[in-house]
Amino acid sequence: MADKNFPAAGFGSTAIHGGHRQDPNYAHLTPIYASSTYVYDTAEQGMRRFSGQEEGYIYSRWGNPTITEAQEKIAALETWQLKDEQGQPLQSEAILHSSGMAAICTMALGNLKAGKKLLTHYSLYGGAQELFDKILPSYGIETIVTDLRDLNKAEDAFKKNKNIGFMYLETPANPTLQCVDLEELIKLAKENGVKVGCDNTFATPYLQQPFKYGADFVMHSTTKFLNGHGTAIGGVLVGRDVTFMKGEATKLHRLLGGNSNPFDAFLLVNGMKTLEVRMDRHCHNAMEIANFLDAHPAVAKVNYTGLTSHADHKVAMKQMRHPGAMMSFELKGGLEAGIQCMNKLQLCLRTVSLGTCETLLCHPASMTHHGVPKEQRQQYGITDGLIRMSVGMENVADIINDLDQSLK
Ligand SMILES: Cc1ncc(COP(=O)(O)O)c(C=O)c1O
Repeated sequence: MADKNFPAAGFGSTAIHGGHRQDPNYAHLTPIYASSTYVYDTAEQGMRRFSGQEEGYIYSRWGNPTITEAQEKIAALETWQLKDEQGQPLQSEAILHSSGMAAICTMALGNLKAGKKLLTHYSLYGGAQELFDKILPSYGIETIVTDLRDLNKAEDAFKKNKNIGFMYLETPANPTLQCVDLEELIKLAKENGVKVGCDNTFATPYLQQPFKYGADFVMHSTTKFLNGHGTAIGGVLVGRDVTFMKGEATKLHRLLGGNSNPFDAFLLVNGMKTLEVRMDRHCHNAMEIANFLDAHPAVAKVNYTGLTSHADHKVAMKQMRHPGAMMSFELKGGLEAGIQCMNKLQLCLRTVSLGTCETLLCHPASMTHHGVPKEQRQQYGITDGLIRMSVGMENVADIINDLDQSLK
């Protein structure tokens, strides 16, 4: 067994060993604790557990050993090598959810009450956008959407709205890969006494750590790169205010019922162990493919933050280790050409989601963002001809050959 006192300094080592505790039966991997409930030696012990006097598992909607390992590993990665204001290792607490959307709900409902406003950027994952536009208003929570890449607009939003209660960022954002400046926006939010949450799904903690810039919460759809193999839906909310996470956020998570399960947590734990090596390969492939598409005569535009032509290239390079493995592109022939290209694919897969070994292509206007009104989509750069690609880990020449033949 790895010695707990031996420093695992590297990101990859933390991804492998972080959060692991010796199993009582000495299993090498933390098993799938497929148990809904936990027994007490005595009734008094049960009482002590419920009152919080004694640590221990009670009921798997509240906590489960396999889920704990996943939570602690993610928290270790999101705070990797970060220090707090006192120079001590940054503390955080993660709560695993049944989906990314469940994690966003806990974050939104835990931080906003009726009468408060949510400030966000206009390019977001379609589900988050729908939640903010269509569901939160019925609970008295209004959403202000502006172009947060423009700091003047962000300042203006704070000046005009005294009751902003939370700022929600997604960077790089889905599917246009727009990036917002974490450092500047979080600074501005702090000056206004507003907490900030960041969706770090596209980047993963290997490429970007929002806590480094003072974010209060980081969330992920763990369904994507963290799991890495497309084997389970999941989400996580990580917060640096441990008291809030153990208190209000835990209470909400338990009562909303969006808990994860031990099987999905097991898949996630083992998927995360290879995060660093997987991301290196994904990113290497993505850069080559972006260059290939950029030079291709059938392609009108490539949205990839690794290209200097992307409007947010500089901000992405300031806060990310590498521009990542997500991109989108438009064909000169518009929607018709896009559909033809998708239909001709032979190796890459036509599907939504992202972050798997396989290269995945989807059509946001009719798939991930079909719930967002067309006018709004167009305004956000989600045109009918836009194709989004999650670059996989196949040999890059094979991906390029498939794209090449599908673009003919
Ligand atoms: C960036 C981003 N955030 C959040 C979500 C929602 O996650 P889930 O589907 O796991 O609920 C998604 C899903 O595609 C996503 O792409």
